[in-house]
Amino acid sequence: MRVALGVSGGIAAYKAAELVRLLQDKGLDVQVVMTRSAREFVTPLTFATLSGHKVSTEMFGGEAGGGNIESAVEHIAVAQSIDALVIAPATANVLAKMAHGVADDFLTTLCLATQAPAIVAPAMNVNMWEHAATRENLETLRRRGVRVVNPDEGYLACGMTGAGRLASLESIVQAVCKALGLREDLSGETILVTAGPTQEPIDSVRYLSNRSSGKMGYAFAEAARRRGARVVLISGPTSAEPPSVHTLERVRTAGEMAEAVFRHVDSADVIIMAAAVADFRPANHHDGKIKKLAGPQIMNLEPAVDILAELSRRRRRTGQMVVGFAAETDNLIENAAAKLRAKRLDMVVANDVSRADAGFDVDTNVVTLLFPDGRTIPLEKMRKFEVANRVLDQVAELRRLAASAAQQ
Ligand code: PMT
Repeated sequence: MRVALGVSGGIAAYKAAELVRLLQDKGLDVQVVMTRSAREFVTPLTFATLSGHKVSTEMFGGEAGGGNIESAVEHIAVAQSIDALVIAPATANVLAKMAHGVADDFLTTLCLATQAPAIVAPAMNVNMWEHAATRENLETLRRRGVRVVNPDEGYLACGMTGAGRLASLESIVQAVCKALGLREDLSGETILVTAGPTQEPIDSVRYLSNRSSGKMGYAFAEAARRRGARVVLISGPTSAEPPSVHTLERVRTAGEMAEAVFRHVDSADVIIMAAAVADFRPANHHDGKIKKLAGPQIMNLEPAVDILAELSRRRRRTGQMVVGFAAETDNLIENAAAKLRAKRLDMVVANDVSRADAGFDVDTNVVTLLFPDGRTIPLEKMRKFEVANRVLDQVAELRRLAASAAQQ
């Protein structure tokens, strides 16, 4: 989703730089628009560097871009491409222009041209904030559906004390997420996610592993974090870039993954086992490299620790939720249902890994969700991030039902 961040001229303009980062953290693409007076406080280069986009400042491209058709219609292009417009800080002047439909620069023209929901976070001197003109302008804007994030009280840059400090950046981000319909339905939950393959060493240079890229588990970690969860990610070896999460632990073998899972399990409300953990490992580990020998060789394998089976034996408390995967090439639903029962899971994600566009090392997946009450939810082919969100929708709903049952 794309958000335009309007920055108008006040000392709080510098805080908008951090706001760019926080909005990006929610997965939003941020395009910054600055008024002329905002540029007295912070340079467009700061916002261009942070947002990765050219900063819109002038209606007609400024001195260098004057008369060029792209700049003349740029505000319309931005207006049509955004999902929300947030103005932080919003000065009394910008609020007045918005209330009266004045469009004399890029930002105020964008305000008129867009149909996206608007959020304003005013910041100004206390007398300006309390002035009847500002009050009436805000009332007009509220009536039109503009969301207002009221300023905080405190010491103001002008030397006075009172209301007028830019609201906390967290509350501005929350207002934007609400306007966009982004969910915060997992806030307060700790979600433990496993991702990627494991590697079981044969000798000091060889190992047994599988084709898991970690993409599915990383998509869960990213989606859960964006929905407000505290995420503990335990990742097997992969070259994929991990999302930023509360805790990231890198492990190599099934044994190390089990050890990390059991170290964090007591703090987890939900456990999602998306990792492709080894079922077998070499029974003997050789120090150094095994020499090439003539003729066929036999390697003895022994079972690796089954983390999910162990988890179902050691469940911390009722209310902790465990979601397993079942990667299958045949009899998908029957085999997945057997895993659901055997490992006493709350949900199993049956993953058809026989298809080229699903499962290991691709960006899309095709799964069916199975529940202990016999419900099944087949999902179309979709990107792994979307799969993660669909599974998390079910997790959030089950958590909500469990919480309300516990209250009765
Ligand atoms: O990483 P990607 O390239 O994005 O690929 C995603 C994926 C195909 C790896 C993922 O979608 C997936 O299906 N993960 C589960 C893979 C797997 O090991 O499935 P399984 O049917 O063998 O195992 C069943 C469940 O038991 C899984 O939740 C697994 O994490 C768990 N398990 C398995 C073996 C073991 N020793 N301990 C376990 O806990």
